[in-house]
Amino acid sequence: MATTDAVGAPPAVKSDLEDKKASAQQQIDPYNVAGEVDEQGNIKAIDYDRLIQEFGVQPLTEEHLRRFETVTGKKAHRLMRRKLFFSHRDFDKILDAYEQHGTFMLYTGRGPSSGSMHLGHTVPFLFTKELQEMFDVPLVIMMTDDEKYLYTRNKTEGHQKAGVAPEDFLDFAHENVKDILALGFDPMKTFIYTDYEYLGGHFYRNASEFESLVTFNQAAGAFGFGNSTNIGLIAYGAKQCVAAFPSSYPDLFGLKDYRGPDYPPEAKRRHKTLASIPTLIPCAIDQEPYFRILRDRCERMTDPHPKTSLILSKFLTALQGPGGKMSASDPNSAIFMSDTSSQIKNKINKHAFSGGRESLEEHRKLGGNPDVDVAFTYLSYFLEDDEELEDLAKRYRSGELLTGEMKQRCIAELQKFVTDFQERRKKVTDEVMREYMRPRKLEFGGNPSPTKPKAAANGDEGTASSGGAADGEKTAREDGRGTKGERKAAKLAEKKAQKLAQRPKDAE
Ligand code: TYM
Repeated sequence: MATTDAVGAPPAVKSDLEDKKASAQQQIDPYNVAGEVDEQGNIKAIDYDRLIQEFGVQPLTEEHLRRFETVTGKKAHRLMRRKLFFSHRDFDKILDAYEQHGTFMLYTGRGPSSGSMHLGHTVPFLFTKELQEMFDVPLVIMMTDDEKYLYTRNKTEGHQKAGVAPEDFLDFAHENVKDILALGFDPMKTFIYTDYEYLGGHFYRNASEFESLVTFNQAAGAFGFGNSTNIGLIAYGAKQCVAAFPSSYPDLFGLKDYRGPDYPPEAKRRHKTLASIPTLIPCAIDQEPYFRILRDRCERMTDPHPKTSLILSKFLTALQGPGGKMSASDPNSAIFMSDTSSQIKNKINKHAFSGGRESLEEHRKLGGNPDVDVAFTYLSYFLEDDEELEDLAKRYRSGELLTGEMKQRCIAELQKFVTDFQERRKKVTDEVMREYMRPRKLEFGGNPSPTKPKAAANGDEGTASSGGAADGEKTAREDGRGTKGERKAAKLAEKKAQKLAQRPKDAE
C-alpha cells in the first residue's frame, strides 16, 4: 500500500480503496463486495453464513417470520419469505416497539454513482415500501451525492484531476430519486433528500457530535481507509449514521428548530421525545459496517437514541454468477432500470451464468442446479408466485426444464418489471420529485392500538407515537391502556426485550 503521507499516529491500515490487489479472502464492506478466490483463481459464491459469524449479526428465523405476520396481520414480502433478507440486528425490538408504543421510523438510502439504478438497488426499496405500507410509519431516504463524489475523487490517482464535480453527483441523485419514487412511496409519509441540498440544522449538529465519537482508527477498521484516504470520506460515515436519528429531522415530526432563538421552554423535553423514536434500516449487508459504528454510539449522544435495528439482505448477484454483486461500475454485470426489453434479453441470454449441464443429453440425465443459476436467482427476487418458483426449481433439477427455458421465463419477468417501472418513472416529474424532497410534517398512523402508548422507547419521556404526538398533541389512542390480553402480551415482549438486551455488545 502506498501510504507516503506524513501523518502521525494511526497505524497503516490495509486499504482496498487504495490498493486494488486481488485478495483471496471474501471481502464485504460498503466499498467492496467479492467472494473468496480459490487457488485456481475461481471466485466462490459469497458465504453468508460466514458473514453472519464475522459481522456478529443474527439470522432471520422462521420464528421472526411468524411473529412479523402476527404483528402485521399480513403475509411477509417474498424477499423475506425466501430469506433473501436473511439477517438482522434487533428486529424483534422494532416489533416490540411497534406493538407497545405504536411507531418507529424507517431509514434507507442510495449512493448515486450513476444516472440509472440497477435491478439490485431496487431490492431494499421494494422491501422498504412494503414495510412502510404495513406499519404505516414515516420513511426517510438519504441520497449520498457527497459520499459518491468523495469516493470517486478518492479512487482517482493523486485526488487531483478527477474530472468530476459535486454537481455531477447531485444530477445523478435527482435521476435516482425519480427511479426510487417510481417504485411508489407514499408522499404523505416519505421524505427524500440529497446531502448537498439538505444537510444543515439539527442534522449537522448531530453529525458533528457523532464525528466526535469516532476515531480515525475506528473508521479505518470499519471501512478499510488508510492514511491517503481523503478526509471527506473519513468523516462521511457520521452523516450516514446520524441520518438514522429522528432528531435529525424535526420538521418531519412537526417541530421547528427547537434549539434556535425562539426555543420554547419545553423544547428539551420534545427533543428527548424525538430522540426516543426507534429506527429500522432495511439494506443489503454491505452497509452494515456503518450501522455497527452507529449502534455502539446511539446511547452516547447527549439525547440518547435507542439502538438502531437492521434488516439485511443478500446481494442480487452479478450476471456472471454468485461471487459478486450486480454493480453499476461494471455494466456487463448489471441490468439497469433504463435498459430496453431487447437489452434485457441480450444480457440474460449472453451473460447470465447457467446452472445447467454442458450438453443437452447430460442436462436431461443429471439435471441442472438452480442454486447457482443466475436466471433462477433473479426469479427468486422478482417472481411473486411461490408455487411457480418451486415448480421451476424442481423441473430444472430433474432435467425437464432447460437453461434456455429458464432464461426465457426470467427475461419475460424482468422485462415486465422494468417496462412497468419505466411507465411509472415517466410520471415522476420534477414537481412530483420536489414535493417528496420538501421538509414538511409527515402524516402517519403507526399501530392503531399500542399496548403502552405513554411509555417511551428509552423509558424516559412520552414517545412520539404519531406526527401529532411528537408535537405535544395527545392522540385518542395515547389515553388507552390496551386490553388485558394486550397488556399480558406486552409484559412477555418486555421480558424478551430484556433478555435480548443482555446479549454481548456488538463487535466493533
Ligand atoms: P448503494 O447506492 O451502494 O446501494 C443502495 C442500496 O442498495 C443495496 N444494494 C444492493 N442490494 C441488493 N443487491 C445488490 N446487488 C445491491 N447493491 C446495492 C445497498 O445495500 C443499499 O441498501 N452509502 C449507501 C447509501 C446510503 C444507505 C443509507 C444505504 C445512505 N444511507 C442507509 C442503506 C441504508 C450507498 O452507497 O448505497
